[in-house]
Amino acid sequence: MKILLTGVSGLLGINLAQDTMNAHEVIGVARGKLPRAPFQVINADLSDLSKIAPILDTVEPAWVINCAALANLEDCEADPDSARRLNVDLPAQLARACWDRGLHFVHISTDAVFDGEKDSPYTEDDAPNPLGVYAQTKLEGENNFSGAPE
Ligand SMILES: NC(=O)c1ccc[n+]([C@@H]2O[C@H](COP(=O)([O-])OP(=O)(O)OC[C@H]3O[C@@H](n4cnc5c(N)ncnc54)[C@H](OP(=O)(O)O)[C@@H]3O)[C@@H](O)[C@H]2O)c1
Repeated sequence: MKILLTGVSGLLGINLAQDTMNAHEVIGVARGKLPRAPFQVINADLSDLSKIAPILDTVEPAWVINCAALANLEDCEADPDSARRLNVDLPAQLARACWDRGLHFVHISTDAVFDGEKDSPYTEDDAPNPLGVYAQTKLEGENNFSGAPE
């Protein structure tokens, strides 16, 4: 199975790529940080959302797993516009592009959507209360595509 993995140079992305590359064809998207990766890497800055469609149409993956994000809390606070672009606009655009092409799409949430005040483990049914730009943009990114586009 062909899997397109965005954010493949990140903590989650590189581990996921290494775990799946023997069973599946992994094609990563990175920003030039993986010149000697043992799988194909497409270099692209995904804050340019117009890059998404040509990548999908060239690679024709069965699955897209989005590990790209602005995940550094301080960077998100310092540059909320970039946080919104990567954590809200990018997943929405990826979701729509995958929907249009009939591709499976996986996006990664974060425990940071909760405020940490609960005394027991959180479940997906707990109400989120995101604190800070990272958590707020991550939650907004999820809510942005929680439903099929018209
Ligand atoms: N790590 C955790 O503990 C944790 C916990 C909960 C949820 N998550 C979620 O898991 C996902 C992955 O997180 P992570 O920890 O792996 O983050 P990370 O290590 O910071 O990786 C983020 C990835 O996104 C890429 N990226 C950022 N801006 C980009 C752009 N403009 N164009 C293309 N790629 C770009 C980065 O590329 P560069 O290397 O070029 O910057 C990197 O590959 C995120 O959705 C995060 O919210 C992570």
